Amino acid sequence: MIALYVFVIAIAGAASHAVPVLDIVPRSKWKARPAAGVTALRRPVPFVVVHHSYSPPACTAPSECEASMRWMQDYHQINRSWWDIGYNFAVGGDGRAYEGRGWDAVGAHAPLYNNISIGVCVIGDWSDTAPPERQLETVQNLIAEGVRAGYIAGDYKLVGHKQVRKGTQCPGDALYALIEAWPHYDSAPSLRVSSTTPTPPVENTETNRIRKRKA
Ligand SMILES: *[C@@H]1O[C@H](CO)[C@@H](O)[C@H](O)[C@H]1NC(C)=O
Ligand SMILES: *[C@@H]1O[C@H](CO)[C@@H](O)[C@H](O)[C@H]1NC(C)=O
Repeated sequence: MIALYVFVIAIAGAASHAVPVLDIVPRSKWKARPAAGVTALRRPVPFVVVHHSYSPPACTAPSECEASMRWMQDYHQINRSWWDIGYNFAVGGDGRAYEGRGWDAVGAHAPLYNNISIGVCVIGDWSDTAPPERQLETVQNLIAEGVRAGYIAGDYKLVGHKQVRKGTQCPGDALYALIEAWPHYDSAPSLRVSSTTPTPPVENTETNRIRKRKA
């Protein structure tokens, strides 16, 4: 009887701690507009750069997170005239990873690092509170998948956006404090944008014709 009880507890424990399956939501699912241009990313990249969105705020339901993706794409493509949503991926509070530019395209998220990294946005404002565990696990699972599939170098370095870019608090103090303890965290990345480095025009938008998203 006691043995059976222990067995049941063990199963319940294993289930609740099981590594969740990585669920990558493709662009079509969140109704992304096509990218206005693409520069191929040379793999494997040596860096992963972690961001928070700050705005939009944290999302928990898939429909909400999909709307956050559209909001970010609108802001980056329309307000800022970039080719596409800036990040390679974003991760929602629903525990799903959302395809931004994906594994194959250079992002627009951290000058000097765009063409040597995968930029991952943890949707929400993580200045004062940490993201939920499942969102953090998905970020780590996504990185592990990138390494497994050869998009990210096995000896990659992990940095927070503010380490490589002056004048930002991104990815938020609470999230940054956590990633400092993650494997591959690099406390002193050598490439840094100095205060005197002008932000280069991220992308040539001359040929951009951003179409309205179909409702
Ligand atoms: C983006 O541009 C639209 C249209 O001009 C404007 O209404 C909106 O406030 C802008 N969004 C942000 C976050 O600045
Ligand atoms: C990334 O871009 C910089 C600046 O344009 C360039 O000097 C560097 O060679 C590029 N690196 C790769 C891997 O394409």
